[in-house]
Amino acid sequence: MKRASIGKRILLIISGGIAAYKALELIRLLRGHGHGVTCVLTTNGGQFVTPLSLQALSEGKVYTDLFSLTDESEMGHIQLSRSADLVVVAPASADILAKMATGLANDLASTLLLATDKSVLVAPAMNVRMWLHPATRRNVARLSADGALFVGPEDGEMACGEYGPGRMSEPPQIVETIRAALSAPAGGAGLLAGRHVVVTSGPTHEPIDPVRFIANRSSGKQGHAIAVAARLAGARVTLVSGPVTIPDPPGIETRHVETAREMLAAVEAALPADIFIGAAAVADWRVEATPDKIKKQREGGAPALTLFENPDILARVAAREAGRPALVVGFAAETRDLLRHAREKLARKGCDLVVANDVSAGVFGADENEVHIVSAKGVESWPRLGKEAVAARLVQLLGRELAGDSGKSSP
Ligand code: C5P
Repeated sequence: MKRASIGKRILLIISGGIAAYKALELIRLLRGHGHGVTCVLTTNGGQFVTPLSLQALSEGKVYTDLFSLTDESEMGHIQLSRSADLVVVAPASADILAKMATGLANDLASTLLLATDKSVLVAPAMNVRMWLHPATRRNVARLSADGALFVGPEDGEMACGEYGPGRMSEPPQIVETIRAALSAPAGGAGLLAGRHVVVTSGPTHEPIDPVRFIANRSSGKQGHAIAVAARLAGARVTLVSGPVTIPDPPGIETRHVETAREMLAAVEAALPADIFIGAAAVADWRVEATPDKIKKQREGGAPALTLFENPDILARVAAREAGRPALVVGFAAETRDLLRHAREKLARKGCDLVVANDVSAGVFGADENEVHIVSAKGVESWPRLGKEAVAARLVQLLGRELAGDSGKSSP
């Protein structure tokens, strides 16, 4: 990302957790992008980073006390929470999430969070058991329903030696998400506010017998990132995911399916929508699964599998007479003649836009993607970008299309 001239003001709340050290890098990156950062440090946060380091990097006063006579005379806490363009809580401990979810206001950070009228972006960081605890699950669901935006947590090794979801997202990822959250037009509502977006993601698994299946390669990273970007732009998002190992994105209603037919049923149940994005790698064929495991023949020889065609979810959604989403977006993963296949797919499936990518160059499971946007208007080629950046750009494009800013992509 280039140095931006947008120069927004971020109120950064740093709560207690070892990931608080990453807040220093976050401030540095945000300032590098032209944003101003005002820091609020909780008492527990102060166990991990010092006000002096925050002050040096933010080049501004660091706020710590609710009842500080000097702070109140300079700038009251209500004003502090209102003068920002975005409130970011990074790291967000289980404790601060619980306070936010219940509306507790017993220190400066929680009071600001209750008093703000701005969007709040939360970057959780905690032990895996704490993140998976039903109480935290409830708090996250409550906060999502209240409109809080989430980035992370990521899977990984924790400072405490355990492994799983709970690691705070890396600062560049948080900056990217802040950029998406700030891209909402001034005055509040995001580009997709009031819209419903349905996204398919991941592979489908088509069982052969109870232990074997046919599947496509797909990590779900691109589809999940699109769902997150649409949510950040203010949409209500339904994510229909095949079997993936990445976690459900917080704040997004996620339906889990195995097979193409289950995916079709879940998509149809989720409609109507304003936008449908088919990012899943749906298996084109299935077999008639046997109820018992197929045993290996003693004399060798492999069983013959008869393949049946699966329903094409994208084509079905695009062909709906009643309740067709205004924008239907497909993906074309090809290993050769990428653009020719993408154009052909656009016409054959009846969608408005195809996101084409060459999958011969190690895209599966990777964090970056190089795509071409193919529509009736022509081809727009994007540089190699992180999957989150591709998602944010795609969502911006779709939001503008929907608003009629750049005309319809299909005739
Ligand atoms: O035909 P192909 O599988 O290459 O098309 C890819 C696009 O169509 C993707 O957007 C994918 O999600 C969608 N698709 C689908 N249902 C299928 C096959 C593909 O929705 N059965």
